[in-house]
Amino acid sequence: MTQGTVTQGTGPYAEVYRRSLADREAFWLDAAKAVDWVEEPTAALDGSEPPLYRWFPGGTLNTAYNALDRHVAGGRGDAAALVYDSAVTGTRATLTYAQLTDLVARFAGALAARGVGTGDRVVIYMPMVPEAVVAMLACARLGAVHSVVFGGFAPRELAARIRDARPRLIVTASGGIEPNRRVEYLPAVAEALGIAELPELPVLVKVRPGFAHQLEDYPGWEDYDAALRSAAPAACVPVAASHPLYVLYTSGTTGTPKGVQRDNGGHAVALAWTLKNLYGVGPGEVMWTASDVGWVVGHSYIVYGPLLAGATTVLYEGKPVGTPDAGAFWRVVADHRVKVLFTAPTALRAIRRADPEAELLAGYDISSLERLYAAGERLDPETYRWAGEKLEVPVIDHWWQTETGWAICGSPRGLEDLPLKAGSPSVPMPGYDLDILDGAGEPVASGEEGNIVLRLPLPPGTLTTLWHNDERYISSYLSAFPGCYATGDSGYRDADGYVFVMGRTDDIINVAGHRLSTGAIEAVLAGHPAVAECAVIGLKDTLKGQRAVGYVVLKAGAEVSEEALASELVALVRSQIGAVADFKQALVVDALPKTRSGKILRKTMRQIADGEAYTVPSTIEDPEVIERLVPVLRGA
Ligand code: COA
Ligand code: AMP
Repeated sequence: MTQGTVTQGTGPYAEVYRRSLADREAFWLDAAKAVDWVEEPTAALDGSEPPLYRWFPGGTLNTAYNALDRHVAGGRGDAAALVYDSAVTGTRATLTYAQLTDLVARFAGALAARGVGTGDRVVIYMPMVPEAVVAMLACARLGAVHSVVFGGFAPRELAARIRDARPRLIVTASGGIEPNRRVEYLPAVAEALGIAELPELPVLVKVRPGFAHQLEDYPGWEDYDAALRSAAPAACVPVAASHPLYVLYTSGTTGTPKGVQRDNGGHAVALAWTLKNLYGVGPGEVMWTASDVGWVVGHSYIVYGPLLAGATTVLYEGKPVGTPDAGAFWRVVADHRVKVLFTAPTALRAIRRADPEAELLAGYDISSLERLYAAGERLDPETYRWAGEKLEVPVIDHWWQTETGWAICGSPRGLEDLPLKAGSPSVPMPGYDLDILDGAGEPVASGEEGNIVLRLPLPPGTLTTLWHNDERYISSYLSAFPGCYATGDSGYRDADGYVFVMGRTDDIINVAGHRLSTGAIEAVLAGHPAVAECAVIGLKDTLKGQRAVGYVVLKAGAEVSEEALASELVALVRSQIGAVADFKQALVVDALPKTRSGKILRKTMRQIADGEAYTVPSTIEDPEVIERLVPVLRGA
């Protein structure tokens, strides 16, 4: 392990970090005491089948029991578990631990009555309503495996996930509410079932008012509320620590999403550890994660983390701006006495753009707020400084991925107030044996950029594999650097050992904190009859971090105006991937720059478009193509 000075220090963080790697067994078995086990684990790590690892062999537990019932049993049934605040419908509701436990037990009964058992998958396609949280926890209660799909994905993406997960049923709602429109889910689900060739799959629908499509129009589909009313509560089913809790699909470099599989035991232990030590949140304290249950951040810190800790979680249905204004976040903090707020940098930039001096703060008492956490993309130094100045609280960047489920790097405020540095997500969290390697797998010097890798085994709570696809897990993550998990991010460590994450080394881009595959967008563009070939790259965007732009070469003889083609391509991406891709620009070019072996020089294109210094590889097929492209790229 290469160590920087911060991990070699004498403070509480350094001591904990070193112990987590030097005495893994003792460290994680100690952390496992935060969980109520049915059967105690006999060890922390099962490393009998490297490179696949399992945590807490012999242990059995139920995650929903740990998130709910045990707090009721411990006398905290009347404490607030979930606060629902919907800026788009004007609804507010608080569910206590006792109430949420009851709802989850009954909805688990409804699922069981429809044949859902341990290990069965349930796809959840829901907006930010409490029923989504109830459905997730009800699956956990039965030992069933949920797979939540973000509402901004189009039917084809939903179908790809349904096809891979093979659920026993789908839980959905009439739709979601965006500031400018209502998103109708029912036709989307019907279309997805058609594409997946599973038209008979049972569907439970949470009916919401104000949507054009009615449940009655879909024969056989059932009403969520009616199913809940008639259900008998189901008991918690103990499962092995290694039993899957959920599968969450995320963009890979190809068009086929990867089903990140999370276990029950490692997940519960790791999240409980982070609530106390990374976020400093305990029972009765309020954590608000302004994300969506469709993303990993929502899984870990809207749903499971705060509830495992006995804290109060806020479920916010709305946007940082426009519902109704850029003071929305401050209102929610004030109304619910939020201690810790977690959001994406893009949301802060959106607020800053609308209210540069944060004048709307004046209307709210945000004295409860102690810390602001950011993740999803790099927290740029300007936004970091702005938020710190305006909110007068520490602003903590932390870096993680759908795959890891919790922060790889962060500033563990429950352990120690380490100094923060603009542009850095601070230091590795316990259990993450981080290194930075060059292309040949050799560690780079401090200050030098390279591939950020994590030496195996990964800590508890990280992915155990990809859903029914160990091979893809190994080839995607564990093959490039033997003995290591390749994060796909590049970065460097400074002389103090602080990590700086600079960007992806693959074709994944990050638009408004949403992870997208340029390959998937290219596949859609290539499907247009007039397109011969194309390249999609992520260009810098001052609000959303990056935006996807497509460059297409027309087929010989294609008769279509550039304008008409661009709007057809934009519509195609929206209908096939979803509004979330936020794909707004396609440009026709006469050729794409390629190497002699046919590889499109996407990185060079991006550097030119972003106005960075660029190098043209000596293997380029035709250097003139680049010269002709420069004005087009610089004009995008
Ligand atoms: N269901 C359906 N459509 C959705 C959606 C959802 N859940 N979420 C977003 N969309 C749509 C939007 O309506 C928009 O559609 P449009 O093209 O018709 O306007 C499109 O997807 C792009 O949305 P987005 O990228 O979110 O842009 P925006 O301009 O609507 O909002 C921000 C900009 C910055 C306010 C917003 O992106 C934001 O809040 N980001 C934070 C993201 C976040 O929390 N990520 C979690 C990772 S930690
Ligand atoms: P996702 O799986 O959607 O959470 O996206 C993970 C990717 O987002 C990472 O691999 C990074 O590229 C990027 N990312 C997330 N958080 C940060 C951060 N704090 N700093 C830099 N990049 C980040």
